[in-house]
Amino acid sequence: MSYNIAVLPGDGIGPDVVREGMKVLKKIGQRFNRQFVFREGLVGGAAIDKTAQPLPDTTFTLCKASDAVLLGAVGGPKWDNSPPELKPEQALLGLRKKLGLFANLRPARIYPALIAASTLKTEVVEGTDILVVRELTGGIYFGTPRGVHPQNGEQVAVNTLVYSTSEVRRIAHQAFEAAVKRKNKVCSVDKANILESSQLWRKVVTQVAAGYPGVELTHMYVDNCAMQLIRNPRQFDVIVTENMFGDILSDEAAMLTGSIGMLPSASLGGSVALYEPVHGSAPDIAGTDKANPIATIASVAMMLRYSFNLEEEALCVEKAIEKVLDQGYRTADIYSNGTTLLGTAAMGDAIASCI
Ligand code: IPM
Ligand code: MG
Repeated sequence: MSYNIAVLPGDGIGPDVVREGMKVLKKIGQRFNRQFVFREGLVGGAAIDKTAQPLPDTTFTLCKASDAVLLGAVGGPKWDNSPPELKPEQALLGLRKKLGLFANLRPARIYPALIAASTLKTEVVEGTDILVVRELTGGIYFGTPRGVHPQNGEQVAVNTLVYSTSEVRRIAHQAFEAAVKRKNKVCSVDKANILESSQLWRKVVTQVAAGYPGVELTHMYVDNCAMQLIRNPRQFDVIVTENMFGDILSDEAAMLTGSIGMLPSASLGGSVALYEPVHGSAPDIAGTDKANPIATIASVAMMLRYSFNLEEEALCVEKAIEKVLDQGYRTADIYSNGTTLLGTAAMGDAIASCI
């Protein structure tokens, strides 16, 4: 069986970490006798520089024709002053929307070997295992009207937070389905004390919950959730929330685990799914062999699981990551006294050699 993977390294440390993801996939291919075919495409700033577009048609066509997409990161100071429609980030939004990837899964699980790397006390973060299910193609990221216009002699800027019943229903189902395979708890996060979009969100999630009697549903306001994540992260199993709340809370959840360099993600919902680390392009350390490739390698494990249904292979990658951490190998972002510092490529080698 052969699997076609569109590889979009992007900007900054994107190429550095994607290379290690491919290294591990190749090793999985040898070990389990699977063939992974990689085809590269331009995305983000790298694409703007060569084609004047953040998401060239050729890249989108490549993704559509593949079995899965592996993306590094996009963005950097070089393109900060580009007009909004020509920013690297537009490529990500375009890919998510055009591929119909409405469900973004961001697991935040603490690796026992890394508890000391968390900025929080061990007794608080120990045992943390959260799945943030972020709605990814709706809400304020995509709502219209939007834009900037002059009004009464000054500038006025508008964005619109909009959700329909069907959009909420499908993401709620994803969250409940995920909870059934975990600890049967869903916490829906909103701002229903203020926002109509959140009131509809809460109503629809509650309706969907009726179909999952084994799953306990709770509701939480987003400000309280931000606080509860730090106070007692173990109370959460699955968190389901709208696009922008999910963007913010998933960064917060990531930091519970010690470094945002550890967190993988899967974006599902269309015919082709996309896998990418939660972290950004970190242009300051691009090409210096300092980036942590673990988020990307863990994203590869999610790809094996969700797109290819290769559970054994996925577990093998996840166990290899754990083993290397247990052996005391660390990249700079998770380094502490008494551990062994590795560069990006050496960390990829270490994980690949445990496959
Ligand atoms: C993320 C990122 C993106 C987002 C940016 C780069 C567009 O922060 O994937 O969390 O806001 O969705
Ligand atoms: Mg983000």
